[in-house]
Amino acid sequence: MELIRLDKFISGQMPEYSRNDVKQLCRRGRVAVNGVAAKSADMKIDAHTANVTVEGKTVCYKKNVYIMLNKPSGVVCSTRDGLSKTVLELLPKNLLRQGLFPAGRLDKDTEGFVLITDDGELAHKMLSPKSHVPKRYFVRLEHDICPDAERIFKLGITIDGGEKCLPAELELTDSANECYLTLHEGMYHQVKRMFEALGNRVVYLKRVKIGGVELDPKLELSKVRELTPEEIQKLILS
Ligand code: URA
Repeated sequence: MELIRLDKFISGQMPEYSRNDVKQLCRRGRVAVNGVAAKSADMKIDAHTANVTVEGKTVCYKKNVYIMLNKPSGVVCSTRDGLSKTVLELLPKNLLRQGLFPAGRLDKDTEGFVLITDDGELAHKMLSPKSHVPKRYFVRLEHDICPDAERIFKLGITIDGGEKCLPAELELTDSANECYLTLHEGMYHQVKRMFEALGNRVVYLKRVKIGGVELDPKLELSKVRELTPEEIQKLILS
C-alpha cells in the first residue's frame, strides 16, 4: 500500500494538471476515485490500487519512468544549465514529471543512449563503481586503430594522471578507424582519454548500449521512448 494525496498523485502522473487544477476539478465533481466523485483534493488514496479518473480520463499509475533518449551533440546531460540545452528539455510534455534526471553522463559532443529516469535506486545501482554495468560505444578515430589496441585495453590501460582503467573490450569493424568499445566503469572523458593514451583522437562518439539494452536503431536523434518492462530488467545486467 502506498498512500498519497489525491492532488499529488494526479499532478505527478499527469503534469498537465497542477495541484491547484486538481482542487478546482474536485470542487466541480470532475475527479472520481473508485467511481465516486472526490470531495477534496487532499484525500489519501492507495496509489497502487485506486482507480482515479480526471474529467473522464483514467490516471495510469507508474511509480517510476524509464526513458531512452538518443542524445544529439550539443545537449548537456544535466537537469539545469544556464547556457546549453539539457537532455530534460528534449522530453515531450507527456513524459515530464518531477524528479527526472539523466542516469549517467555523456559529453556535450557525444551522441547516443542516455537513460532518463526518476528511479534513484536503479540509477545508483547502474552507476555505482562496484556494479560494472557495461556501456558500449561506437567510436570513430582520426587515425587508424593501432594493432595493439585490443590487447592493451583488455589488460587495462593507464590514462593521463596515472588512472588505471578496468579491462575493456575493443571490437574492430571493417573500417580501420572505427570500432566498438565496451567499458565497465565511467571515468571522466574515458573513451577519449583511452585513445589519447594510444596517440589517437576520437572524432565521433556514440553510446549504443547500456547493460543489456541496445539503443533502439529506429530512434532518431533527439527522440525518446519509454523502456519496455523487459528492458528495465536488463539495464543493470553486467
Ligand atoms: N567517454 C567519453 O570520452 N565521453 C563520453 O561522453 C562517454 C564516454
